[in-house]
Amino acid sequence: MTTELRELRTLRADFPWLQQTTDDGRPLVYLDSTATTQKPVQVLDAMDDYYRHHNANVHRSAFRIADRATKMYEAARAKVAAFINAADPAEVVLTRGATTSLNFVASGWARPRLRPGDRVVVTSMEHHANWVPWQMLERDLGIELGYVPLTADYRVDTSKLDELIDDRVKIVSFSGMSNVVGTIAPISELAAAARAVGALVVVDGAQLVPHVPIDVQALDIDFLAFSGHKMLGPTGIGVLWGRRERLEELSPPEGGGEMIDQVHLDHFTMNTLPHRLEAGTPPIAEAIGLGAAVDYLSDVGMDAVRAHEVDLTGYALRVLAEVPRLTIYGPTDPQVRGGAISFTIDGMRLDDIESALDAEGICIRGGHHCAQPLMRAHDLPQTARASLYLYNTREEVDRLGRVLEKVVAYGI
Ligand code: ALA
Repeated sequence: MTTELRELRTLRADFPWLQQTTDDGRPLVYLDSTATTQKPVQVLDAMDDYYRHHNANVHRSAFRIADRATKMYEAARAKVAAFINAADPAEVVLTRGATTSLNFVASGWARPRLRPGDRVVVTSMEHHANWVPWQMLERDLGIELGYVPLTADYRVDTSKLDELIDDRVKIVSFSGMSNVVGTIAPISELAAAARAVGALVVVDGAQLVPHVPIDVQALDIDFLAFSGHKMLGPTGIGVLWGRRERLEELSPPEGGGEMIDQVHLDHFTMNTLPHRLEAGTPPIAEAIGLGAAVDYLSDVGMDAVRAHEVDLTGYALRVLAEVPRLTIYGPTDPQVRGGAISFTIDGMRLDDIESALDAEGICIRGGHHCAQPLMRAHDLPQTARASLYLYNTREEVDRLGRVLEKVVAYGI
């Protein structure tokens, strides 16, 4: 056994979910981390500890435990800020998830500013969370929505950026990594094209941030949205990072609770950042869980996470390529993609593939993956998707390959 593999086995012991077996005693294989990730015991313990010993609302009561709860909540924000190298924890707004974060930008920044004829440009590989908020503005404000297509091999096609991103474009908003075909966006190139026309740059980092080291100060972007549950944390918590001047411009999409400074009978004044954008009691335990997840990923090291996934994705692409009648949709080079691997098997229905794998204890997702425009643009059928994370192993990929070969050879 190599050192790397031994370390991986140690790491896997931190995840209670992964210790489960099928009814006949085989380990479950979790290949659906793009949908949501499993949680290490460190995250579960941090949330349990908060509820058992420190539960109190934050930024409100003066008793000592409430003060401790506030400090724990703010410490989680600081950990997230350090994780993405934000200049200031106040640039980290804790939201309900990446979808909420993107909607905040659309409704709080774009809606008050954009005028009929202004354009927003996305790519064709966006999650619905980065289509629909802009389509709502298209419907309500008369703006135009355009997209940068992918090439036939599922790379972002930057050959016509000059034409697509002209001076009518006010926002360029794109996924850093596709949840369907794994493609990593050329962030610098898209950002440079946006900057050339003075447009804002918004990155949907729901898949990128959990898998690739990110330094927001090194990227020429304005907003970054991501979710806790796709990076070992709980559901119900996400992040909107923004450059301070952009966040200052963002009109709070929700009112009440922590976002106010003073409320009079006839008007209100607002709190400072980031609280101005965190109306109501925030998801406190979830923030603390996210802080623990960030600690966990930082301990492993995001460079190591990425290196493991590049290796494993390359391996999985080779294993799946051996399965007869199987087609993979996405770039073939693991260096330019993540570990969400979509595929179909000629002559087999998607639900038959899903149930055959489920019967063997292998968990994947099938469908349109909340990215119907991508499927339509490439005339793709609904696909099966196996997705990898830091806790997955070559043995698990081998099991996936063996079961698929058996299914193709003998049916289900
Ligand atoms: N967006 C998540 C996925 O791709 C839910 O499965």
